[in-house]
Amino acid sequence: MIPELTLRRPDDWHVHLRDGKALASVLPHTARQFGRAIVMPNLKPPVTTVALATAYRNRIRAARPAGSDFEPFMTLYLFDNMPVEEIDRAKAAGFIAGCKLYPAGATTHSDAGVTDVRHIDNVLARMAELGVVLQVHGEVTHEHIDIFDREAQFIDEVLAPLVERHPKLKVVLEHITTRAAVDFISGARAGVAATITPQHLTYNRNEIFRGGIRPHFYCLPVLKTELDRRALIEAATGGNSRFFLGTDSAPHARGSKESSCGCAGMYSAHAALEIYAEVFEEAGALDRLEGFAALFGPDFYEVPRNEGTVTLRRDEWSIPRAYAFDGDIVIPMRSNEKLRWRMISA
Ligand code: NCD
Ligand code: ZN
Repeated sequence: MIPELTLRRPDDWHVHLRDGKALASVLPHTARQFGRAIVMPNLKPPVTTVALATAYRNRIRAARPAGSDFEPFMTLYLFDNMPVEEIDRAKAAGFIAGCKLYPAGATTHSDAGVTDVRHIDNVLARMAELGVVLQVHGEVTHEHIDIFDREAQFIDEVLAPLVERHPKLKVVLEHITTRAAVDFISGARAGVAATITPQHLTYNRNEIFRGGIRPHFYCLPVLKTELDRRALIEAATGGNSRFFLGTDSAPHARGSKESSCGCAGMYSAHAALEIYAEVFEEAGALDRLEGFAALFGPDFYEVPRNEGTVTLRRDEWSIPRAYAFDGDIVIPMRSNEKLRWRMISA
């Protein structure tokens, strides 16, 4: 008999769905695998208000494949001098899972982000009072800090003091990439958690330069060392509820990546759960995939766990070289490679 694995339906706690035709291209992949997802607000212009988030949510819901009951959670893009009242409106809306801190200039479409976290301390205080979660892109942006050190530096310089200044604030350090982040999250106070992506569990930084420069392996935070990757695998597969699934699936058209200044972002929505399953299987921890993918996230965000299930079968298949994307193509993670697990039902 071919082994099968049935899990409670998972959620993706960090995804980029884009907008317009690009949204229509990628949403079926996310909606096939996940019951819900937190949709990142880094559109152009960014999703900074509840009014913009409401309109974006409506566009996402309208773009769902027929019969899909996928539900997007939204997050507001924090900026210097954001009015505190927006947090009250966010709480009242009911579908806003939190607010996202992009240090200005840290990543794709972050130029309108926060220049100094002290500028939003009043907003963070209100979020803590109302129980609105802070999602953090954890990298400093100083030119003089090495790109591979930017996450660890952010933890020391910005995140650790922030978590102390706002002891009731719930915080998710998004897409962690380093042993330093694993150590910080493991030892942090209650209410501090992290998401982990499939690419940071699968690759170390050598992959970006294997036989030549490979732009489809460039994402932010950038891939790190093998020791970092091993720390992430231990964290994800270790059963600690502070670590849960967030793909950071971030599609860009092929030409925007294969360029003299290529965009950051890897696309994984087409097979994220199957890729995580391979990682967990290799770590001998398939029995812990459900906690990571379907239980710890809802518990942290204080929403009910999904009711339905998904089934994966140990049945090899080949990922296509490319998927249609916004009138162009996107090169997916594990392009043209074989995967051992296949989702057979939702
Ligand atoms: C993301 C994108 O393309 O929107 N890119 C990425 O490399 N992860 C932005 C982000 O989450 O940093
Ligand atoms: Zn992201």
